[in-house]
Amino acid sequence: MAKQFRIAPSILSANFAKLGQEITDVITSGADIVHFDVMDNHYVPNLTIGPLVCEAIRPVTDAIIDVHLMVQPVDRIIPDFAKAGANIITFHPEASNHIDRSLSLVRDLGCKSGLVFNPATPLSYLDYVMDKVDMILLMSVNPGFGGQKFIPSTLDKLRQARARIDAYTEKTGREIWLEVDGGVNAANIAEVARAGADTFVAGSAVFGAGKDTDPNRYDSILSSLRAELAKV
Ligand code: DX5
Ligand code: ZN
Repeated sequence: MAKQFRIAPSILSANFAKLGQEITDVITSGADIVHFDVMDNHYVPNLTIGPLVCEAIRPVTDAIIDVHLMVQPVDRIIPDFAKAGANIITFHPEASNHIDRSLSLVRDLGCKSGLVFNPATPLSYLDYVMDKVDMILLMSVNPGFGGQKFIPSTLDKLRQARARIDAYTEKTGREIWLEVDGGVNAANIAEVARAGADTFVAGSAVFGAGKDTDPNRYDSILSSLRAELAKV
């Protein structure tokens, strides 16, 4: 059976004046997940969107909303996103004082939980919490901005994360998604998939691909990403 790959456009690069329409159009064009980047100008040097925007887009789509928290601390804001309709909530281990507790909090509120690894953050944070993680997100850029260049050492790290997940799934039968975020585009997505990712965030590559009002403007970029993945 062909491997299942998921494409998660990051709305960070969408037109915020037309956010609902952007989401409808990108999902209609074949995207699987809405990647929702939350930045606080404290943990990362940029400021974006919060639970109010998540709540506003929830009725627009049935797609999974994947909330990537780049905020510190995390526990105060997690319930707000659960209430706003997030399906997945991921956070950076450095941003939580009690990682195990924050992961449990996400799960207790009915969401899937995940840890996010900056380029220099070791995977050893996973050692004692694999049972509490539904998604592992590897940053392939330093978090804070869309449109940066993919950091090549992520490929090795993806292989290591893939090995950890496969060993864990073999033992427990439970699946964990491996997502990659930053600088992913049609030129590198196949290589990134070969290194072990199954879920691909792409912001500027997707939303930069169609600036007009054509409702099908994202068809061609989504088809090229899928065509590249089909080669894997
Ligand atoms: C970066 C964000 C990413 C970003 C990806 O801090 O977490 O999700 O929007 O954008 P591109 O695909 O343009 O690198
Ligand atoms: Zn992100």
